[in-house]
Amino acid sequence: MKGLILSGGKGTRLRPLTFTSAKQLIPLANKPVLFRVIQAIRDAGIEEIGIVIAPETGAEIKSVVGDGSRWGARITYILQDEPRGLAHAVKISRDFLGDSRFVMFLGDNCIEGGIHRLIEQYAASDYNSQIVLTRVADPRQYGVAVLRPDGSIERLVEKPKDPPSDLALVGIYMFDKHVFEAVEAIQPSWRNELEITDAIQWLVTHGYRVYPYVHTGWWVDTGKREDMLEANALVLEELTPRCEGEVDARSTVDSRVTLERGARVVNSVVRGPTIIGENTQIINSYIGPFTSIDRDCMIENAEIERSIVLEGCRIEHIPARIHDSLIGRRSIITHAATKPNGYRLLLGDYSQAGLL
Ligand code: G1P
Repeated sequence: MKGLILSGGKGTRLRPLTFTSAKQLIPLANKPVLFRVIQAIRDAGIEEIGIVIAPETGAEIKSVVGDGSRWGARITYILQDEPRGLAHAVKISRDFLGDSRFVMFLGDNCIEGGIHRLIEQYAASDYNSQIVLTRVADPRQYGVAVLRPDGSIERLVEKPKDPPSDLALVGIYMFDKHVFEAVEAIQPSWRNELEITDAIQWLVTHGYRVYPYVHTGWWVDTGKREDMLEANALVLEELTPRCEGEVDARSTVDSRVTLERGARVVNSVVRGPTIIGENTQIINSYIGPFTSIDRDCMIENAEIERSIVLEGCRIEHIPARIHDSLIGRRSIITHAATKPNGYRLLLGDYSQAGLL
């Protein structure tokens, strides 16, 4: 089997971070979401992986991910000129995929427990396609499936106003070569994209065997700030803590905290699950649970909880606690000591700030 990861898209809901970087490279527990996807595919025994990239972020993804050798994988990049839909991404990957069965994984999806079990099930089956479903409270923002009494897929609807079931399509799909007939046959949707949901519906309508795998662990589609924070918390809970940094005698760091190489905690309290990145300094501060602070940051006289702080940030002398925040690379947040009293901001386009 081969793997196909979709890593295009504009990430508009994560602006301004996505003006300068791909959303799939935003780190969870200091590791890009995309790395977790590659690892999951690799752990399922698949070595040949295609990554569909967009013109805006493709170069960055290539330079960060490389040729795949660090995962023992071989990576081929496939350029999608415009966001024309998930089924369009399959269409342009035909040369890479050949006649192989493959798993397609959306590069911003984060799932508990990997995918080896569903890959094994599909490999042992004669299904033409297997899709991953999970029960969600509000299915309206996803593709939704209706099953037949024998458990096969009867019908799929993309983002229904009135959902016919609570079974949402997770961004992981398995196909054989018949999917190419489907992606050639379907027409663009109202949002002018070739929808993978329509391609799967085409397979069902034309008598191909499409079955679900119902996933019961957690799953997060990391499109927005709150989803990123939620996924970060879940990934931090999975980490096996390790301490490769230094903690001074005046600090309290609990057993669920990971300190990466060269991290230093001085006169501070750090509560896990939390990760402090390489060469980051935490001085006279409080770092609360579910926080990831990436490498080369300086946090002094500040309190941060349930947040993601990217590399190279400086956060100093802040009188109120920062929480539920996503802070981009090399940001500087400091106390403004000069008059007049008030907030002094230099924010990028589409920034969001929640002030007291
Ligand atoms: C896509 C699929 C949808 C699926 C979702 C999962 O939606 O079209 O069926 O439930 O991914 O992340 P999109 O992210 O394109 O809105």
